[in-house]
Order: sequence, then C-alpha cells, then structure tokens
Amino acid sequence: MARRSADLFDASEIHFAFDELFFSRTDAAGVIQFGNSVFQRVSIYGWDELLGRPHKIVRHPDTPRAAFWLLWDAVKAGRPFGAYVKNRSKDGRYYWVFAIVTPIDGGYLSVRLRPSTELLAVIKREYPAFSALERKENLAPADSAPLLLDRLKTLGFPDYPTFMAAALGQELAALDARLGRPHDPTIAHFQGLHETAKTLLQKADIIADAYVTNENVPFNFRVLAAQLGQDGAAISVISTNYTLLSVEIRGILADFTAAAHDVFRTISEGYFLACTARVQREVLNQFRNEAGAAGEAREQEELLLDRQQVEYSAKAETGLREIARKAKGFRQACLDMERLAAALEVTRVMGKVECSRHISVKDRLDELLARLEHFQATVAAALRDIDVINEHIQSEAGHLLARARRAA
Ligand SMILES: Cc1cc2nc3c(=O)[nH]c(=O)nc-3n(C[C@H](O)[C@H](O)[C@H](O)COP(=O)(O)O)c2cc1C
Repeated sequence: MARRSADLFDASEIHFAFDELFFSRTDAAGVIQFGNSVFQRVSIYGWDELLGRPHKIVRHPDTPRAAFWLLWDAVKAGRPFGAYVKNRSKDGRYYWVFAIVTPIDGGYLSVRLRPSTELLAVIKREYPAFSALERKENLAPADSAPLLLDRLKTLGFPDYPTFMAAALGQELAALDARLGRPHDPTIAHFQGLHETAKTLLQKADIIADAYVTNENVPFNFRVLAAQLGQDGAAISVISTNYTLLSVEIRGILADFTAAAHDVFRTISEGYFLACTARVQREVLNQFRNEAGAAGEAREQEELLLDRQQVEYSAKAETGLREIARKAKGFRQACLDMERLAAALEVTRVMGKVECSRHISVKDRLDELLARLEHFQATVAAALRDIDVINEHIQSEAGHLLARARRAA
C-alpha cells in the first residue's frame, strides 16, 4: 500500500533534464513578460496563458508564503534572492526548482535549475509541514517569515543569505557531478571558504563563551580583597585591574564578534553572487541555442541576460575584494584582543606572586587564578587559530579574484 502511494506521488511530479535551465522575466508586479521554452514546456501552459499573467500562476500550496515574503522583501530592496520552490503545472503535477530572482530595470528576472541534493530532501520535508502550519494558524506571511528563519537556524543556517549561498553552491556542484562536468574550481573554492569562515565563527564563539563563563572572576577577586582588609591591598589592585580589563574585553568582544560575523556574511554574499553569475551565464548559453523561444524580442532578451551575467560577475568580484578587506579589518579586532590577553597575563602573574603571601585564602585565590589562566589560554589559542584562518581567507579570496579576472 505504501509503495502504491509512493508511486502515485512520483507520477504527480513532472520531470525535466538536469541540463535544462528555466528563465522568466516579470514586470515590477511579478507579471510574466517573457520566458524560455523550458519554462513553458514544464509549466504546460500555452504562451497565451503565461504572458501577461502573474507568476503565481504556477504557485503550489506546499511552498510556504514565508518564502515568497522573503523573496519580495529582498528583491524590492534590490538584493538578489534564491530559494527552493515547488511549482504546479497546468495539469496539477508539480516540479521543484532552485530559483534565483534578481532585480532588473522595470522588473525581475528569475533563472532556475533542477535541484537534487540532500538539502532538497530536507526542504521537501520542511516546506509542506511549514505551509500546513501557516494555513492552520492563519499566519500572515510577514509573521511566518521569522518562523521560517528560525527553522533554518535549527537546521544549521544562522541566516537566510548563508542558507541560500550554501544551497545554491551545493546544487551547482551536484548538477556538475550529475552531468559529468568537471568540478567548477570557483564553486569548490567558495565552498571551502564558506566552511572555513564557519570555523572562524566557532572560534569567535569560544572566546565569547569563555568570557561569559569567567565574568564573575573580578567580583570574586573583590570579595577576597575585602575579606583580607588592609592585607588585601595588593589583591584589591589586581582585582581593580582585572575589572577594568574585563570591561574593556566586553566592549572589544562585541566588535570582535560583529567583525567575525561580517566576514562570514560577506563570504556568503560573494559565494551566492558568483554562483548566480554562473547560472545566468549558462542560461544565456542555453537560450542562444534554444529554438522556439516566445515572442519576437529574442535579441533583446539575450542582451538583458548578458547584461545580468556581466553585472553579477562584477558584483562577485566586488564581493571578493570586500571579503579580503573585511578579513584584513578583522585582523585589527584580533590584535586588540591579543593586547588585552597579554594584559590579562600580567594581572595573572601579579596575582600568582600575591598568592604565595596569603596562606589563609590560598585555595580560593589559586582557584581564581587557575580560572584566569584557563580563560587566558583559551583566548590565546582561539586567537592563534583565528589568525591562521584569517590568513587563509585572505589568500583564498586573492586566488578567487585572480581566477575571476582571468575568466573576464
Ligand atoms: C521573477 C519572479 C519569479 C517568480 N517565480 C515564481 C514561481 O516560479 N512560482 C511561484 O509560486 N511564485 C513565483 N514568484 C512569486 C509570485 O509573484 C508570488 O509572490 C507567489 O506565487 C506567491 O503568491 P501568493 O502571495 O498569491 O500566494 C515569482 C516572482 C518573481 C518576481
């Protein structure tokens, strides 16, 4: 019985080849102005039914409203957007695409490919459940979008740009593998860079966590100094030093964490732009060889596609320069942290000397100093790793930039 329903399920999916890319162009309201023959064939609508109709003509209820809310939010603000979309053809069958929508003069362009990765399998489970929830709770798209973002967070994607970059990169790599094409070095490099940048965030988190764990150390120092009265004057100085340092660390830590996230976000954006440029380039090549595209303005559409891919290749290059610049800037935040870590070490050594003089509180002082030592060692080790990662990011961005320039 289960097998039968699975067969039925399959039969309701429309298949198209992995090397068939779609594109369509809409006006500013999402009304279809043009499309290629793959789009027309798979949607099963006639051109007279597609042109001049809202793009939601192919809407499938399993794609969450939240996804479209995020789409419009991004493209109206001039940002490119990518998403998995389940669409419905005229005969009621469905097909999955990974769609990239970019703003153009007077409207939007959508290029789409056939997805096939593990991530698609996850989305196939998530979307219908999420859409059902939207309907059950009668959620407005604007209210449901943050919930979709939360869901992506639990799936390991801190924000939507990270998700769409990782998804598109994986889908393109899978497409190349399926079509027996050589590995795309740009995508492979970006994939590596994205993973590396994730470890950068993890290291920055280690420092932030270590700070939170030890936040009460200065207070404990002060308590100890107070208990010792006059005898505790030196410890009191140490505690004051440490308190000041701790406040400074907290301030720098906020900038440091923000800078690490900024590097990561810039890499996600560059990754997505580079992948977008590649899909647009392929769509253009396919369209040039395609017979029977709709309308008479074929040349104009080719020009438009060409302009888009040139624009996105240039944006990807700018993105790479930004990555190198942000990583370089992040180095300054690391130096600030290193300076504070060194000052902490001085405070700790002073404490160690004092420790031997106060036998009565030796154990507690020892414990505090051990915590301080551990904190300092954790920060120093994470900073060393970050230094290596940061160097790597800068050199990878340099390689990618050189490759992009050679390709241009
Ligand atoms: C360029 C472009 C392409 C689009 N492609 C699709 C698509 O393939 N499928 C779809 O359901 N909506 C697509 N949309 C979004 C629709 O305009 C619409 O927002 C969506 O179908 C949700 O409709 P609803 O709010 O009436 O449910 C596209 C929008 C643009 C601007």
